[in-house]
Amino acid sequence: MGKYYHITTYGCQMNVHESEKIAGILSELGYSPCENINDADIAVFNTCCIRENAENHAFGNIGMLKKLKAHKKDMIIAVGGCLTQQIGKADVLHKKFPYVDIIFGTHNLNNLKELVQKKLKSKKAVIEIEDGDGNICEEGKALRTSYPNAWINITYGCDNFCSYCIVPYVRGRERSRRSADVLAEAQSLVCDGYKEITLLGQNVNSYAKGGEDISFPELLRQTAEIAGKFRLRFMTSHPKDFSEELAKVISENPKICNCVHLPVQSGSNAILKAMNRRYTVEDYLKKIEILKKYVPDCAVTTDIIVGFPGETEKDFTDTLELVKKVGFSSAFTFVYSKREGTVAAKMDGQIPEEVSKDRIMRLVELVNSQTREQSAKYVGKTVEILCEDYDKKRNLYLGRDEYGRMAYFKSDLNVIGEFLNIKIDSANGISLFGEVIKG
Ligand code: SAH
Ligand code: SF4
Ligand code: F3S
Repeated sequence: MGKYYHITTYGCQMNVHESEKIAGILSELGYSPCENINDADIAVFNTCCIRENAENHAFGNIGMLKKLKAHKKDMIIAVGGCLTQQIGKADVLHKKFPYVDIIFGTHNLNNLKELVQKKLKSKKAVIEIEDGDGNICEEGKALRTSYPNAWINITYGCDNFCSYCIVPYVRGRERSRRSADVLAEAQSLVCDGYKEITLLGQNVNSYAKGGEDISFPELLRQTAEIAGKFRLRFMTSHPKDFSEELAKVISENPKICNCVHLPVQSGSNAILKAMNRRYTVEDYLKKIEILKKYVPDCAVTTDIIVGFPGETEKDFTDTLELVKKVGFSSAFTFVYSKREGTVAAKMDGQIPEEVSKDRIMRLVELVNSQTREQSAKYVGKTVEILCEDYDKKRNLYLGRDEYGRMAYFKSDLNVIGEFLNIKIDSANGISLFGEVIKG
């Protein structure tokens, strides 16, 4: 009988990719993946704490393992990720869930192998939460699970300290990987047949800042020069650091998708200031103008928070106005969630839940109506998509065009990883439906 692992991932793309690294470490230890957590010899929870509900979700799922662990005493339960790195949270976890065997922080991922080996020899829980800014480990191979897409970290951590955000506290100071390592990883992924590469960082534009290495636009350009057919994306771009040079690089390299995620967070200057975002609405619109000057068809996606402390009805309607003005192709919308230890948590004017709920509903309605309008324009057009997956429920394959729009279609053959031309027949909200055009 083999040994099995199961990983539950919460949070952002960064965490999704880190789970691939965890999978790599566990497979080196002789474990194979399993779909059902009940079959696992080691169950890992890679957690997130960006908002309270992300935290509650993880707590709920870890709690549900109590019964299983009571029957399966040898099963190892490990909890890692951003939640554990919050001050005092490892102790809370240990007290609340004494049956959890390993608790490791975001900076301890590199020695997970040793932590598992330590646990196998000991009855006691192994808790390792390293303070500080963590290092960069170039060893170990991620076990990628998302073919034909591949993610590459270019930076870790964040120095921006947006007043609402926990990330700088749980991920440490910003540090950049060497461009030579990033380029070598990208080259090897293209050789392995990956068709879409996304360069990842909390603020990719500040890559290598203050150091001697090449700038982000140059790194992007050199990655795009790798031979072979593949798409190149990056996230996340902080608007304050989005440069004309970057817009130019996007326009000059067909492999770089004409799609930029540029989180605006709010359409009110007072709120942006209180959020410590370090740009105004006017600065943001100027960046969009520069981007569109070089890449007129560029899709822009965004993140928006409603209910930030002190947000008035006028601040909120200014956000709605900005959404109308920019015409985002999609937007992730969030209700502000108070994070202990951040500057905003101590601010006056916390917004009542009913007010935030009402605002998020109005915002979502606007975003959805814009998305529907944009989707309707696709009908009758043919788009090139990269097939990424198969939807068992719908019995359809799916893929995205370079602007990030999802299209579903039928195929008798497995076409995952292929670029296909799809003629769009209908649109339903954010999703498009069509058929493969041969040729
Ligand atoms: N580094 C990225 C974002 C990472 S977090 C950037 O700066 O754009 C992803 C998104 O979560 C943020 O853009 C923000 O919209 C949202 N977010 C972060 N902290 C939050 C909080 N306390 N409450 C609600 N949403 C939050
Ligand atoms: Fe958080 Fe701001 Fe850093 Fe993004 S840039 S991770 S929102 S502190
Ligand atoms: Fe990502 Fe959540 Fe951590 S959004 S960086 S996993 S707090």
